[in-house]
Amino acid sequence: MNFWEWYDRNFLAAKQHDVTIYELDWLVLRLTSLDKLDLRLRSPNISQKITPETLTNLDQLWQKRLSDRIPVQYLSGSVTWRDLELQVSPAVLIPRPETELIIDIVADFVSNNGQDKIYENGIWADLGTGSGAIAIALTKHFPQAQIHAVDFSKAALEIAQINADNNDQKIYFHHGSWFEPLAKQNLQGKIMGIVSNPPYIPSIEVLNLQPEVTNHEPHLALDGGDDGLEAIRELVNTAPKYLISDGFWIVELMAGQAEIVRSLLQANGNYTNIQIHQDYAEIARFVSAQTN
Ligand SMILES: C[S@@+](CC[C@H](N)C(=O)[O-])C[C@H]1O[C@@H](n2cnc3c(N)ncnc32)[C@H](O)[C@@H]1O
Repeated sequence: MNFWEWYDRNFLAAKQHDVTIYELDWLVLRLTSLDKLDLRLRSPNISQKITPETLTNLDQLWQKRLSDRIPVQYLSGSVTWRDLELQVSPAVLIPRPETELIIDIVADFVSNNGQDKIYENGIWADLGTGSGAIAIALTKHFPQAQIHAVDFSKAALEIAQINADNNDQKIYFHHGSWFEPLAKQNLQGKIMGIVSNPPYIPSIEVLNLQPEVTNHEPHLALDGGDDGLEAIRELVNTAPKYLISDGFWIVELMAGQAEIVRSLLQANGNYTNIQIHQDYAEIARFVSAQTN
């Protein structure tokens, strides 16, 4: 079978399996030397670019996508997130496009609030770093900052370290639960900003997401306890001990949680300037605040 016969057959198979055809293109572009123009123009010289071995490999992976519902990012082992090339494995959540915005919100905060404190030269923490996406992007954006990244999964931290090395960024990685590693580093009262995309899906819902997520992404990265807010409560309650006065706090959350998190921050009494930020789909996706 030549490449185009294979492609056309699997283009149809994607539709039958309710998988978007963009994923077929995505995998082809990731794993071969073809470019978008080759696909769009149905370039006839493709046989020189796709060896029979490449086609066999592509086919084996794509069949796993269709039958086992494995996300293409795990099949290729990589993803582009902002301007970063990141390795991913089933040990880490696949970083989502909407999470990219957290970096822009932090960058806006820093550029609008640098009068009295030089936020970009201070200590920051990314709690629940996963692939390291947020921590690496922050380090790239604020090269003078010292970024600490924490995760409870050792396997995730190994991937995050590889990603930091591959992107030439120095990050202080720590294994442990939320603030516990920061306590060991004596960082109480010293942190300029805490950024987190914690697990926030209620336990019962984790079991009923798309099979790509429920069956393949780590539940430690998804499961936020009975009401989804277990980790967020810990982040609200403990962060003030670690942040400087006027420190920046931001978390990602799911649709329907923003107002609850605003109330938690208000009730805590240590926060001011509480703001809700929308994502590209206009879902209230992040809540930020500053410590008193
Ligand atoms: C939603 S994922 C976010 C991953 C990454 N920051 C991102 O945005 O793509 C949540 C992360 O929190 C980590 N996590 C879960 N419980 C934790 C805990 N008690 N302490 C630290 N990290 C935890 C998970 O292992 C996972 O990597």
